[in-house]
Amino acid sequence: MIIEHLNKVDSTNKYILRYVKDRQDAIVYADEQTDGAGTKGRSFISEKGGLYVSFLKFYRFLPAKNAFKIMLDYSVGVVKTLAAFGIKAQIKWPNDIYVNGKKICGILIKNSFSGELVDYSIAGIGINVNNDIAAPIKDIAISMKSVAQNSFNIDSVLMSLSANVFSENTIQEYREHSLVLGKKIKVIRNNSVSIEQAEDITEDGRLILKNGEILSAAELDLKIDL
Ligand code: BTN
Repeated sequence: MIIEHLNKVDSTNKYILRYVKDRQDAIVYADEQTDGAGTKGRSFISEKGGLYVSFLKFYRFLPAKNAFKIMLDYSVGVVKTLAAFGIKAQIKWPNDIYVNGKKICGILIKNSFSGELVDYSIAGIGINVNNDIAAPIKDIAISMKSVAQNSFNIDSVLMSLSANVFSENTIQEYREHSLVLGKKIKVIRNNSVSIEQAEDITEDGRLILKNGEILSAAELDLKIDL
């Protein structure tokens, strides 16, 4: 296992690609990123004081149809890590991590498949630890420091995270920690918006609505109506 720490990098998700050819698991983390990548092509503000880490993991026997297990492991792993530091967080389906209605952590996963199997995945996790939240996202993001009113040791957070994401995490835990289940959510699709009740999450990670519809995360934007 390669573990590398960088002071500054464009994006740990990009940087870690160099280790794919070695077919070795790796962890790369950085103090700051100059071109942090978010989901749906968005950028991820990555100022000093946060934890910006990517995990490269090779899988031998994970069927492609079970790839949601990867998202589940990282989401539940982050929630368990925050709990270990006294912070109760929830998963906004599929894999944003929220505290007090604000985002504390974003996860960006890229899987690579070989036939019917997952070959490897790159999971980038950005946790607001001690960083001040940048002005444009002040209303929607939060840090561990502002929740707990004290700073945290970033290496300790990383150590806990590395253990938790690779431990036994279950769909039951994912459901228990869900921010959306049993709530009214705003479902935004192409140009349509509707208010729906979120009922359950399938084993393969799709969201079941009370009206019977089953949503997959790919092309959706979700707003939680709290
Ligand atoms: C999101 O919420 O949109 C996902 C954000 C993922 C950010 C992390 S920080 C470490 C890794 N490197 C990146 O460039 N992005 C991910």
